Amino acid sequence: MSEGYVLPRTGSANDPVRLAILVSGGGSGLAALLRYQQTPRCHRTVLVLADKVDVGGLLHGREASVKSIGVPLPMEIEKDDRREAHERLVNAELEAADVELVVLSGYMRIFSPWFVKRWKGRLVNIHPSLLPDFPGAHAHRDALAAGVSVTGCTVHLVNEGVDSGPILAQREIEVLSGDNEEALQERVKMMEHTLYPEVLDRLCSGQISL
Ligand code: GAR
Repeated sequence: MSEGYVLPRTGSANDPVRLAILVSGGGSGLAALLRYQQTPRCHRTVLVLADKVDVGGLLHGREASVKSIGVPLPMEIEKDDRREAHERLVNAELEAADVELVVLSGYMRIFSPWFVKRWKGRLVNIHPSLLPDFPGAHAHRDALAAGVSVTGCTVHLVNEGVDSGPILAQREIEVLSGDNEEALQERVKMMEHTLYPEVLDRLCSGQISL
């Protein structure tokens, strides 16, 4: 399971691990992380990156005076080569900012094996279900359709599969009888906003080993 994973170095409040947070949408999780980091922690966000130029997440980054950039898909490149070309652009930004840990927070793209290999162990994701149940882009819809009574969220290291890397932490929540996708999503997000900072504290202070 631990093959090829290189975990981040141990950070401290004086020398925090340098994070990039990647988003595709409104970024409520990103905003929660930036709020958490207002107190010195063993990790600090140095870059917010979105796969579009006009998403709300970028505003949260800018409000916190963190470099915040949109890196859209290079549409001028032929479709077959576009994903890799995009990942190379993203990777160049991460390297230029001396990023040490990539934190996916509602980033809705799947990385290629090339990118995963480059960051393996230093690429972490939060997913709104109790993995391995309900991977993919519609976790809440799938959980409701399956009629489960408990769902939750998972923080995991990213591997070459979809939502299938080593699990670092999970938190459960009851599905209520009147729940629809939106209501469930909001309640799960509230849990995510406390779980992700806790896991990043552990990951960036040497408390996680594979
Ligand atoms: C979060 O619930 C996150 O777990 C989910 O997107 C939401 C982003 O919300 N991620 C995925 O579904 C990844 N497959 P936010 O933009 O308000 O932070």
